[in-house]
Amino acid sequence: MEAKPWLKNLKPYPPGKTLEEIKRELKLEGPIYKLNSNENPLGPSPKVINALREALHEIHLYPEASYQSLRMALAQRWNLSPEEIILGNGSNEVIEFVFKAYLNPGDEVIVSFPSFLMYEKFAEIYGVKSLRIPLDKELNHDFKTIKASITSRTRAIFLDHPHNPTGQVHPRETWREFLDDLPKDILIVIDEAYGDFIDGEHVPRGIEFLKEGRQVLVLRTFSKAFGLAGLRLGYGLAPVEIIFEMNKVRQPFNVNLLAVKAGLAALQDKEYEEKYLELVRRGRNFLCSSLKALGFKVYPSQANFIMVDFGNECEKIYQNLFEKGIILRPLKAYGFPNTLRITIGTEEANHALLRVLRDTMENNNEQSAN
Ligand SMILES: Cc1ncc(COP(=O)(O)O)c(C=O)c1O
Repeated sequence: MEAKPWLKNLKPYPPGKTLEEIKRELKLEGPIYKLNSNENPLGPSPKVINALREALHEIHLYPEASYQSLRMALAQRWNLSPEEIILGNGSNEVIEFVFKAYLNPGDEVIVSFPSFLMYEKFAEIYGVKSLRIPLDKELNHDFKTIKASITSRTRAIFLDHPHNPTGQVHPRETWREFLDDLPKDILIVIDEAYGDFIDGEHVPRGIEFLKEGRQVLVLRTFSKAFGLAGLRLGYGLAPVEIIFEMNKVRQPFNVNLLAVKAGLAALQDKEYEEKYLELVRRGRNFLCSSLKALGFKVYPSQANFIMVDFGNECEKIYQNLFEKGIILRPLKAYGFPNTLRITIGTEEANHALLRVLRDTMENNNEQSAN
């Protein structure tokens, strides 16, 4: 049976290696530091684990169809109404809702290139044309060119902020200038998968623009700051009429019961949230300054990861760290063959990374001296 012709060349999303794959490949005695998928290294919150233990007795039941309780909790957090919130099986699913509800084959979306790969994957799946606008010289979203590239067929623009894989952000004025005077029938998707880690006052959160009445969909996730990547829980914040349309294409019970219970518990564990955000802030500063001191270019990040240019030695450095159980994300698939993306780890992981990196460099220097 023939699949849809436009799926012929579609390549699946290239995920980071899983812990199981790494263990199988490495057969290491020592610890493995998984710094390749921007997961929360603290493990889940104890409150979440307790809630899940209790919820296990209910998994023979479907979850609440409207997800009212979690949407209410989120509405409180963001000072919105539950009608402005939709839940997804990961924020990835909310990206897909945009395609399901709003995009016809032949329509156009604009994406920065590179950025989070799923926008383009969904475009390919739904027969939608994606227009790639290269990042500017500093590897930031090129807002001016993006705006100038809008055509009558453009229906949505996807912007990850902080950007993946660089971790970079834009100041409020740049966003405002971009959002002002956009055509009315375009949805701006502000993907804040890493929005919890922004700590600059001059950096806006998408919610501000939503509250100003602009046509934005803000994506948020429990996968990163709340440590629930394995349960798949994300959500979108948007004007009521957009959530209403997206709800029509949402499968019943798209988010599972355990994810809902975990999400509710996670929102209540402020201590865990604060602890992780502080770990990221400190770890990010530490790794940035240490890596710069070693002579590498580090991109300024407001996310729970950093992108580092290791130059020609990149592949060798990646492999050496990998063999020592320190797993980073190569960015060849994003068009950056000399860079690696490093998730901010625990203090122990960050120090181990630097130790191995220094050893690798010393060995390299000795070899080139001989
Ligand atoms: C920019 C960005 N958006 C969305 C996602 C999807 O997150 P999830 O589906 O786990 O909520 C990711 C995951 O890494 C991401 O980096």
